[in-house]
Amino acid sequence: MQETTPLLSALLAYSEDDVACFDVPGHKRGQGMPILQHAFGEQLMRIDTNSAPRIDNVANPNGVIAQAQQLLAHAYDADEAFFLTNGTTSAIHVMMMSTLGPNQKVLLPRNIHKSAVNALILTGATPIYVQPKVNSKTGISENITLDMVKVVHEKHSDLRAVFLLNPTYYGFVSELSAIVSYCHAHDIVVLVDEAHGAHLHFHAEFPQSAMQAGADMSSVSLHKTGGALTQASALLVNTKRISAAKVQQTINMLQTTSSSYLLMGSLDAARQNLVINGNQQLTKTLEYVTYARKCITSIPGLSCVQSHSTQQTDRTKLGICVRGLGLSGFEVYEYFWKYEKIQLEMADMDNVLAIFSLGETQEHVDRLINAFKRLSNRSNNIEVTNKAYIPLQAEVVYTPREAYYAKKIAVPIEQAVMRLSGESILAYPPGIPIITPGERITEEIITYIKTLQLQQAYLTDHHDSTLATILVIEE
Ligand SMILES: Cc1ncc(COP(=O)(O)O)c(C=O)c1O
Repeated sequence: MQETTPLLSALLAYSEDDVACFDVPGHKRGQGMPILQHAFGEQLMRIDTNSAPRIDNVANPNGVIAQAQQLLAHAYDADEAFFLTNGTTSAIHVMMMSTLGPNQKVLLPRNIHKSAVNALILTGATPIYVQPKVNSKTGISENITLDMVKVVHEKHSDLRAVFLLNPTYYGFVSELSAIVSYCHAHDIVVLVDEAHGAHLHFHAEFPQSAMQAGADMSSVSLHKTGGALTQASALLVNTKRISAAKVQQTINMLQTTSSSYLLMGSLDAARQNLVINGNQQLTKTLEYVTYARKCITSIPGLSCVQSHSTQQTDRTKLGICVRGLGLSGFEVYEYFWKYEKIQLEMADMDNVLAIFSLGETQEHVDRLINAFKRLSNRSNNIEVTNKAYIPLQAEVVYTPREAYYAKKIAVPIEQAVMRLSGESILAYPPGIPIITPGERITEEIITYIKTLQLQQAYLTDHHDSTLATILVIEE
C-alpha cells in the first residue's frame, strides 16, 4: 500500500481531464495566467485546484485525502495523521490548542521556536520554561533532560503537558523515551516539535522519533527534511488523552479553507518516498555528512559542533564552529552566499549550520568542503573571543497571553532594562525569541540584541524596525 499515492494520483488524473472550470481559482488551470503557466509549467497550474468532491476536502476528509493521511499515519506508526498547509507553525498551534486551556501549565525548553510562544498566546497556558545547558565553547543550547522535567514537576504537580524539541536545530535530542514514560506515569501529555525531525523515523541510525518514543502528538515538517514542498507539514497523533475529533476541529479553526493541493499532494509523495526510498537515500546522506564532518574537522580554524550529552544526535545537522577563523557565523554565511554560491541553513555568532538531506550530491559536498578550505587559507585564524550568547533565562512575570492583551508603551531600548517586554524579539533563523511578551528585559538581553544588530542578523517580530524602541507593558 505504501507504494501508492492516492491523493497525488487523483490530482494527476484530474489534471488530465478536460474540465470546463467555473470555480476558483480564477486562473482557470493556468489559462488566465500565461506568465505563471510559463514560469511554473502547465501541469502544476492544472493541479492548482480548490476542493472538488472527487479530490476530497481536508477539513472533513473521507476520500483520497483520508486515504493519504492514513498511509502517513502508518508510515510513522501513529494512530492518526493530519495534513497541514501552514507549516509546522500551525501544527504547533493545533497541538497546544487541542491540549491546553487558559492557565494550564506546560513545561517548555526556553530555546523553543516562536510558534510555540505564539501558541501560548492563543491558548492562555502558563509556560514553565526550562533552560537547557549551553555549550560554553559554541554558545549552542543542548536539549533538556529527564531530571529537569522531574524538578519542574516536583514544584508544579499540576503540569498538564510537556513540550519538547526533537531534535533542536543543531540536532540535539532529549531523553525522549524516559521523559515520555515519566510523563505518562503522571498523566502528563507529551507534545513534540519535530520541525527538524521528519526523517528520523526512517533510518535506524537516527535518534528515536516522537512516535517511536510513544509521545502523544508531534508536528513534523515534512517540508524541511522529508522532501515535501515548502509549507507542507503534518500533525501525528498517537494518544487516548486527546480525541482525534478535537484535533480535527482545532485544525478546521486555524487552517485556511483553501488548502493548497500542491502542498497536500507533495505530502502524499514525500510519505511514499520516505517509506520506499528513505532508508537508502538517508544512508547516502549519512555517508556524505560523515565524510564532510571528517574533512571539515581537519581544516585549521574549524571544528564541528558536538553535543556534550550522552544522547545520540541527528548527524544530518552539520554545525560548524567558525570562531577559530576570526570570523562570526554571520560573516561566513554571507561570504559563502556571495563568493561561493553556497546557501547555508543558518548562522549565529560563532557557528554556521549546513543541513544534509535527501538530495545531496558528492559534487556539492566537495564544494562545501573546498569552500571552507579556501576560507581557512584566507583567514588569519585568530580565535575571536568575547562573543555574546543568547541569554535565555529571563523572569516570566506575565503569561504571553496576559502580556499580549496588556497595555503597552514604546520606550527607548536603553530605558527598557528591568521593564516587562510587550513583544517578542528574535533572530530568524533560528526563530528562538530572545525575549517573549511578559518576560523581564535585562541589560544582558539589550546587549545581545545590539550585538546581533551590529552583526546584521535578521531580527524580526518587534514593532519598531530600527529597534530604537521596545514595546513594554505599562506598570
Ligand atoms: C524548531 C522549530 N519549530 C517550528 C518551526 C516552524 O516551522 P514552519 O516554518 O514549518 O512553520 C521551525 C521553523 O524553522 C523551527 O525551527
